[in-house]
Amino acid sequence: MFIRFILLLLLTFSFSCNSTDTKKHKIGFSQCISKDDWRKAMDHEMEVEASLYEDIDLTIFQGNEDVELQKSQIEFMIDNEFDVIIVSPLRPEPLVSVIEKAYDKGIPVIIVDRKINSQKFTAFIGANNLDVGRNAANYIASLNEKPSRILEIRGSDNSSPVIERHLGFHEIIYNEPNITVEYRINDEDIEQRVPQILDSLHVKPINFVYAFNDDIAYRTWKIAKSKGVEESIKFIGVDGLNGANNGIQLVQNGILAATILYPTGGDEAIKIAMKILRKENVSKNNILNTTVIDYRNAEIMKNQYDKINKHQNEIEEQQEKITQQEETYSTQKNILKVLLGLLITSLLLAIYSVYSANSIKKKKRELEIQNKKITTQRNQIKKFAEEVKVSNDAKTNFFTGLSHEFKTPITLILSSIESLSEDNAIKDNKLLREVGLIYNNSKRLLRLINQLLDFRKIEDRKFILKASETNIYEFSTGIFKDFEREAQKRNIEFLINTNDENLKIYIDRNLMDKVYFNLLSNAFKFTPNNGSVHINIINEVDSNFVKINFKDSGIGIPKKDLDNVFQAFFQASNNNKVSSGIGLHLSKEFVEMHKGTIDVSSKHGTEFTLTLYKGNAHLSSDEIIYEPDLIDNSVLNFNADFEENEFVEVGVVRDEEHYSILIIEDNSDLIKYLRNKLIGEYDVHVSDGTDGIEKAYEIVPDIIICDINLPDKTGFEICEILKKDLRTSHIPTIMLTALNNKESYLKGLESGADLYLTKPFSFAVLQQSIKTMIYNREKLRYYFINNIHKINTDNSFGSIEQDFLSKINEIINENLDNSKFSVENLATALNISRVQLYRKTKAILGVSISDYIQNIRLEKAKTLLKETKLTISEIAYATGFSSPNYFSTSFKNKFDNSPKAYRAS
Ligand code: FRU
Repeated sequence: MFIRFILLLLLTFSFSCNSTDTKKHKIGFSQCISKDDWRKAMDHEMEVEASLYEDIDLTIFQGNEDVELQKSQIEFMIDNEFDVIIVSPLRPEPLVSVIEKAYDKGIPVIIVDRKINSQKFTAFIGANNLDVGRNAANYIASLNEKPSRILEIRGSDNSSPVIERHLGFHEIIYNEPNITVEYRINDEDIEQRVPQILDSLHVKPINFVYAFNDDIAYRTWKIAKSKGVEESIKFIGVDGLNGANNGIQLVQNGILAATILYPTGGDEAIKIAMKILRKENVSKNNILNTTVIDYRNAEIMKNQYDKINKHQNEIEEQQEKITQQEETYSTQKNILKVLLGLLITSLLLAIYSVYSANSIKKKKRELEIQNKKITTQRNQIKKFAEEVKVSNDAKTNFFTGLSHEFKTPITLILSSIESLSEDNAIKDNKLLREVGLIYNNSKRLLRLINQLLDFRKIEDRKFILKASETNIYEFSTGIFKDFEREAQKRNIEFLINTNDENLKIYIDRNLMDKVYFNLLSNAFKFTPNNGSVHINIINEVDSNFVKINFKDSGIGIPKKDLDNVFQAFFQASNNNKVSSGIGLHLSKEFVEMHKGTIDVSSKHGTEFTLTLYKGNAHLSSDEIIYEPDLIDNSVLNFNADFEENEFVEVGVVRDEEHYSILIIEDNSDLIKYLRNKLIGEYDVHVSDGTDGIEKAYEIVPDIIICDINLPDKTGFEICEILKKDLRTSHIPTIMLTALNNKESYLKGLESGADLYLTKPFSFAVLQQSIKTMIYNREKLRYYFINNIHKINTDNSFGSIEQDFLSKINEIINENLDNSKFSVENLATALNISRVQLYRKTKAILGVSISDYIQNIRLEKAKTLLKETKLTISEIAYATGFSSPNYFSTSFKNKFDNSPKAYRAS
């Protein structure tokens, strides 16, 4: 930011250095003739004069006696917007149009020396050529040579000086009787005509030559000299220029008798141009003085001109010096500006660096403080970490110790059960089932404890691989068998395949067993009934690896969780089941101890792939042991003896005597347990959670016991859905869960659950709760049936039930006189099935729906008997009885009195 500011400053500064050049006025001068001294003197005078003004820029264009060239020069000056145009025209006519064009465009035009045939110009400057002619003639007359016989040599063009010098001359000699012009020639004819004239002097003698300018006069003198007659002739020229072989010197040398001074007007032209530029008034005609220079004043004139020249030279020198000094000044000024710029920049930089240094210092101080804080915090954290580590170690040691403690009693329990199973006393099926449950769950407990201990061992790097050569297909098949029964029970397609049944690889059988067990337990845990679990062992022929693939059709693992599944204590976001989260972590560690890898992918279920080395080159010698070949060592398996599909309805007889219970739970052991406990007393139905809602709608049980962590919907969601549905809203629901916290409890109540029991629960408490709930429901039914008339006003009914009963009453009353109105009609009108209507009314009112309709009809009849004079048969039809007889029988059955007797009473 600051650097950008400095650059901007320098840029502005350098720009201001150049901006001091003021705009100059452009003056252009088109000079008709270039070759002679008079013209050069004119140009020089202009240049000297122009140099005196700072604000003008003079450009001289040489016309070289070419009118077309002069025209284009003037056009150029117009196009380039010159501020003043000065023209010395060659002849009067050709330049008129272009000069008028400039003038019409508003460009000031100054005509010098020769005139043009137009008045469209700003100013004219030059001497009066009539006077020049007159002065020459008067001079000749003043010499009084009688007779004066003259050779007049004119310029060869028709320029105004040529014409006027002639006219002025003749104007004078016209009145002089002794002066005659004997010959009149043009300057271009000199070389041819002058010798002829001089040769014929004896015929027509001359004593004067009047030449258009000094140069012509001198050229003529030279011819006369060559003829030796120069002494007898007086030569008179025009211009009177100073300098070698020019008019004044020629007079001094006696070559010319006289010259008529004809000033160029160069300096005057620039002066007039300046006046125009300064908007001062300028005369249109500016006539310069002319005079005769002869032997009497030539010296003075020369001296004058020399002085002027000297002055001019001095001026020029001064000018040059000034220019040089200006250049030096300008360079110095620029250097000074640059220096100043640099000075400012360095000053700013200095300020900036002081500022930066200060802020750095400040920052440094802040950082130091922060650093100190961080160090203190780090030390604190370190201390905390140490404390936490100590406490963690203590806890882990405690848990490890405890796990070890657990191991012995569980092992003892297991061996006791094994011997119990052989006891004949236990052949009773129910007892065997319970012992089986104890055995299987003790085994599971032992597995969990072993996992805990393995985790600790892995953490402490205490595992040593003991790999032995093992037929991997046989090994896998052995474990496969352990899961076969569960697959059968749950109708899961469980397959094992290999492309090489004889392949032997080195594995630690104990560790690999754990890996297999973990992967298969997970597969079965998350695969729904009727799904599939496949094991595929592939001997990759061209590589040194074998791949073992476990693929299930379960709920899968969300993509975002895939990277974390092997982390300890990780639980996938879609996993509602309670699990330790260390199984996969241990599996990975165990596989990696084999230098193998475990990969996971998930698409329509989950797929784990183990990649293991063939051979033993990857193992160190102390990792290899010898173990005998596998033998099929069948262990005691209670499952085989009594296992049944706990999710299949067994022994359920819909029995009006029994209340029905629906258990929604995915733990098969708990299902087994509860069913065994409840089955004699209740009509027990079960669901693994995948079809809990459908079963509740179908059965409309008296009580629902529901787990929370279920594979599909949670218990909360199921409860909420059931409580909002007319068919099931009245059913008391018990939540049974391991989630023992306030939030879950509240959530349970919010979902409409009537009771919340946390695991482990006492069966006695559960049993009592069921009884109480059923008792309360009975009380409620009694209340409902006796307060049915208050249905629209009393809100002691649940709102769904209230709406339901109101609706039923309304429909029944509308059809009271319709003897054909049936339960089916009512169910259709309510948009539920006949069975559901039956169960719902039975559940909330305790009577069947047909009895309920009959009751309403009879109550109405009772009112009609009491309050109207209608005959009994009229009342019978009005209340929907198909015949008066049937009405009388029904009435008597209900009220122990015939309609007739009732009316009479
Ligand atoms: C120079 C010149 C002068 C003369 C003037 C007239 O070119 O011939 O000698 O006085 O032009 O325009």
